[in-house]
Amino acid sequence: MSTRKRVAILISGRGSNMRALIEAARAPDYPGAIVLVVSSTPDAEGLKFANSAGIATAVVDKARFGRTDADREAYDAELSAALEDARVEFVCLAGFMRILSSGFVRKWDGRIINIHPSLLPAFRGLKPQAQALAAKVKVSGCTVHYVVPELDAGPTIAQAEVPVLPDDTVETLSDRILAAEHRLYPEALKKALAV
Ligand code: GAR
Repeated sequence: MSTRKRVAILISGRGSNMRALIEAARAPDYPGAIVLVVSSTPDAEGLKFANSAGIATAVVDKARFGRTDADREAYDAELSAALEDARVEFVCLAGFMRILSSGFVRKWDGRIINIHPSLLPAFRGLKPQAQALAAKVKVSGCTVHYVVPELDAGPTIAQAEVPVLPDDTVETLSDRILAAEHRLYPEALKKALAV
């Protein structure tokens, strides 16, 4: 019987980190199997790759839900049902642009991780690459961390640094960080699955 943990990836868009995880998990000795990709939007680009890779996909469309606490809980209940139906054991957020309820996060405590394009605790929240440029730092990067109810605040699993160059734009810096993300996330997931 396989001892690989059953992993779901949650996305909202392009899904390039999802793709890096799917490709890494093809190695026979990788400790996780990607069994489900869930998107918060039906038109997420990443769904196409997941489908073409033969991975089960689901959409829990954020457009069907409002912005109240009750809506958030209803959204997370549908998400939980999709994860439970697929017997998911571990969850990776990969560009999932939706804040999860504290109930959902507590339920997955220690089994849900996220990637963020800054060296946390620096530049939490939105547009961290623009925040890094505005702060004129010389080094930025990315962080894979456990998800806790407070945004971008959970314990760090792994980080990768990249230089910030004098003529960087948000786009050039984001691209350099993204390349580092694609190397970091599969390694960080491997590490988290070994705990
Ligand atoms: C990535 O840069 C990821 O770190 C970031 O969104 C991008 C998703 O790209 N996530 C966040 O900013 C979360 N706070 P991808 O869809 O190509 O993986």
